[in-house]
Amino acid sequence: MSANGSPAGQQPTATYDSAFLKACRREPVPHTPVWFMRQAGRSLPEYHKVREGIPMLESCTRPELVAEITLQPVRRHHVDAAIYFSDIVVPLKAIGVDLDIKPGVGPVVAHPIRTRADLAQLRDLTPEDVWYVTEAIGLLTAELGPTPLIGFAGAPFTLASYLVEGGPSRTYENAKAMMYGDPELWADLLDRLAGITGAFLKVQIEAGASAVQLFDSWAGALAPADYRRSVLPASAKVFDAVAGYGVPRIHFGVGTGELLKLMGEAGADVVGVDYRVPLDEAARRIGPGKALQGNLDPTVLFAGKDAVETKAREVLDAAAGLEGHVFNLGHGVMPSTDPDALTRLVEFVHTESER
Ligand code: CP3
Repeated sequence: MSANGSPAGQQPTATYDSAFLKACRREPVPHTPVWFMRQAGRSLPEYHKVREGIPMLESCTRPELVAEITLQPVRRHHVDAAIYFSDIVVPLKAIGVDLDIKPGVGPVVAHPIRTRADLAQLRDLTPEDVWYVTEAIGLLTAELGPTPLIGFAGAPFTLASYLVEGGPSRTYENAKAMMYGDPELWADLLDRLAGITGAFLKVQIEAGASAVQLFDSWAGALAPADYRRSVLPASAKVFDAVAGYGVPRIHFGVGTGELLKLMGEAGADVVGVDYRVPLDEAARRIGPGKALQGNLDPTVLFAGKDAVETKAREVLDAAAGLEGHVFNLGHGVMPSTDPDALTRLVEFVHTESER
């Protein structure tokens, strides 16, 4: 169990009994908990201020800076959970993969993985490789008090999409060509990434994260049969690796309406839903025994207070019959979002859902 995720740990009850963790466990809540994917980062002026002159990946290795950036949206918006500030490529960088995050582009890999020999770039991850994560989470759990901290990682498919393509892609043609054309190499690549990802999530939970989210952002590019055969086993291995801790495991992807059931089956306790499928319909597709997270279209935040409230109420109404609901956006906060719109949305969801 995590340090603050179980009644047996330190400062246990307040965090364990938070609305966010209760909703993840499908227990009754005093109000619907809210957090936002990408809540830490470019929508906040205080983020730009502390990041000035520090490259993205370097900022992820400075524990005090990570803690400060992680706390900024909690202080400002009063969200019900913090998400650890990092990026999905940080564990890959930590084991020596030559990559960078280019502003306005995303992760770029120097030597894309295309052959079996290229797999040698991926060794196992040890806690020492990511010492700064353990240190930052130590600082954070002390500062956060009862507010839970969500750890995260990129799922094997989404990581593979960057490693094989060499950078962001719209079509994933190289990654999917490997998946269809050399299924053995593909399976070995995903299995290796699953080992790294499982180890990375363990580090975060051992350090004090109260929940974890696996981002398979780009899994929506796959047909269900291909997802089941070529991706699900690796994601299931990641969820299995952390099953024993008893912390909620969230599974999210974009454009995954046809995959929601399988993403639950991979081993998630909470399934993240993007804005394309209403939550009541998502619950029918996923079946019983899972909480849902989502799913306001992030562009609604550009439409003014009345539209935000109307659309947020629609999300809450669709979630009314769910076993557990964590309010979130259907994808990350867009960088040009007005932060005040986010603060107002948190307050609206809390007030509107109070029971
Ligand atoms: O608040 C949070 O949610 C935590 C921070 C976070 C970042 N990346 C910080 C970041 C999280 C959870 C991620 C995950 C991530 N990174 C995903 C999965 C989530 C998703 O959005 O689907 C993906 C696909 C990536 C890869 C990645 N990294 C992209 C596509 C980009 C954006 C490129 C750009 O500039 O538009 C990044 C860079 C990145 N990750 C930034 C931040 C704050 C911007 C870098 C900067 O501020 O200079």
